[in-house]
Amino acid sequence: PTVSKEVSQMEQNQFAGDLPSTIGNLASLTYVDLSRNRLSGQIPSSIGKLRQLNNLFLQENNFSGPIPRTLGDCRSLITLNLSCNSFSESITRELFFLDSLSAGLDLSHNQLSGQIPREIGGLINIGPLNFSNNRLSGHIPTALGACIRLESLRLQGNLLDGGIPESFSNLRGIAEIDLSRNNLSGEIPNFFQSFNSLKLLNLSFNDLEGQMPQGGIFQNSSEVSVQGNSMLCSSSPMLQLPLCFASSRHRRTWRTLKITGISVAALALVCLSCVVFILLKRRSKRSKQSDQPSYTEMKSFSYADLAKATNGFSPDNLVGSGAYGSVYKGVLESEANGMIAVKVFKLDQLGAPKSFVAECEAFRNTRHHNLVRVISACSTWDNKGNDFKALIIEYMANGTLESWIYSETRRPLSLGSRVTIAVDMAAALDYLHNSCMPPIVHCDLKPSNVLLDDAMGARLSDFGLAKFLQSHDSSSTITSTSLAGPRGSIGYIAPEYGIGNKISTAGDVYSYGIIILEMLTGKRPTDVLFKNGLSLQKFVGNAFPEKIREILDPNIIGDEVVDHGNHAMVGMLSCITQLVRLGLSCSTETPKDRPTMPDVYAEVSAIKREYSALRVKE
Ligand SMILES: *[C@@H]1O[C@H](CO)[C@@H](O)[C@H](O)[C@H]1NC(C)=O
Ligand SMILES: *[C@@H]1O[C@H](CO)[C@@H](O)[C@H](O)[C@H]1NC(C)=O
Ligand SMILES: *[C@@H]1O[C@H](CO)[C@@H](O)[C@H](O)[C@H]1NC(C)=O
Ligand SMILES: *[C@@H]1O[C@H](CO)[C@@H](O)[C@H](O)[C@H]1NC(C)=O
Repeated sequence: PTVSKEVSQMEQNQFAGDLPSTIGNLASLTYVDLSRNRLSGQIPSSIGKLRQLNNLFLQENNFSGPIPRTLGDCRSLITLNLSCNSFSESITRELFFLDSLSAGLDLSHNQLSGQIPREIGGLINIGPLNFSNNRLSGHIPTALGACIRLESLRLQGNLLDGGIPESFSNLRGIAEIDLSRNNLSGEIPNFFQSFNSLKLLNLSFNDLEGQMPQGGIFQNSSEVSVQGNSMLCSSSPMLQLPLCFASSRHRRTWRTLKITGISVAALALVCLSCVVFILLKRRSKRSKQSDQPSYTEMKSFSYADLAKATNGFSPDNLVGSGAYGSVYKGVLESEANGMIAVKVFKLDQLGAPKSFVAECEAFRNTRHHNLVRVISACSTWDNKGNDFKALIIEYMANGTLESWIYSETRRPLSLGSRVTIAVDMAAALDYLHNSCMPPIVHCDLKPSNVLLDDAMGARLSDFGLAKFLQSHDSSSTITSTSLAGPRGSIGYIAPEYGIGNKISTAGDVYSYGIIILEMLTGKRPTDVLFKNGLSLQKFVGNAFPEKIREILDPNIIGDEVVDHGNHAMVGMLSCITQLVRLGLSCSTETPKDRPTMPDVYAEVSAIKREYSALRVKE
């Protein structure tokens, strides 16, 4: 067939034979439908030249061989349907770089094998995903939890094993999940109970075990299918499942019973009356405890919405600019106080797309009042058809910490504000390092990434370089996985990263220490003063403790305090001295000599209490 128009629609004909590699010459094609023909052979790799292609339908043919990697070059693809062919080998990971894919990716009914590549987390816009009826094996990748726009997930009829990943708790908008006919094990996660959009959950014919959850979708037996899981039990006699024994150790009991060969049904009958009694008591108790945390749905914004909010991304609205993005302030009627900030990623910068994904990941996994709140993420096209990625974040009226330390026009920061900022930053870092699973290392702490809210509380922002630590060992300060490489900002980046050490929480502690010293001295670590081996730490260390007053930011102790008398003065100097000591110990050369964030947080909180007790008027 010859195709020459922008749109090529030739479905349901009798075309047979190979797809000619000259298809790559039709660079302006946007829509190709060759479904339901008798095309065979491999898809030519020249398909990757179709950069404008939005929709590609090749289902119900006889194509074979691997899915060509060059399909990953079709950066405009919105729909890709390769179902019902004979594609083999593993799924090419290049497909998962297509974050344009949103209206569907269907690879079902082929002979694809191997594991599902974990790069699948790159499909941040995908709605329906269908990999059913292949020969995929291994675990369901945790990264699938990053595809937060998923509406339908069909993985049935494969050879997948392992458990249902915890990360699925992020897929709150999903309507259909079919994982039937695999070899999945473990328990059914409880979080599905709180999924309001879920209309179909098919887990049948697997190896799942334990107790079925009770609430939400599990109340409607026509929406949940669990047949063919021999080790599942239920505490409701409504479902066609054996009754569980009312104990959290039910699984062990169950196994013991199986091993000893006692007829469970008989036993269940004998115990039924007491079981029901216990169950009723437990249920009334549980319904009080299991208040699900409330999640807010992510709002979605179009390019036009954001352009309107920021006055067409006008330079007058520009409030900041970094390596990977520019930040504009704007007004959105839907937001509480109307003001928002939009961070537009400079996608032509190497690393910027990755930084967008890193930020999305980080905000999806975090919630803390000392982190900037992200309202939504937007990945779409601008009005010229270029890729457009942005984060919509809370607008921080008081700007960055940097602007307060160095501004000529703002009033100087009081010591009290500086102490509060130090406490807030420590609270946020302690949360990232120790309360997030997996732990998060910020990797790019500096005063321009610390924003101040209306009440001069500090919020960390810019998670573009943030890293999740894979293995969590809370007893060690240097939990680490990936290589640092060139990340972070000069002056704030821990020295060990420069020599290729791994990312660790100790790196953030270093940057924190530098910021503390910077706040107290009003000097940047990159100040011209610091050369020939002199650094900010050495400069402060040399004056510590006797001559500390000589190197302080002159604004730190206001004139009012000097008038206020000796007592306040002595107390303030004591707080400053403790802060300096903390800053110095955080910014020591060797990572293992630095304190951990919980210790830092405890210490800086104690300093704040001591400061408050002075009752200095500000
Ligand atoms: C794949 O799944 C989608 C969404 O559930 C469905 O509409 C489509 O028909 C499925 N594909 C095949 C070939 O069954
Ligand atoms: C399913 O898993 C079990 C144990 O995990 C294993 O023995 C069995 O061979 C697996 N079945 C298939 C079809 O892979
Ligand atoms: C669930 O999956 C099984 C096996 O794939 C299938 O036979 C059954 O029809 C499905 N049920 C629903 C409600 O989709
Ligand atoms: C159960 O689900 C079916 C199909 O979605 C629906 O028609 C029915 O109303 C539901 N029943 C209850 C009690 O929610």
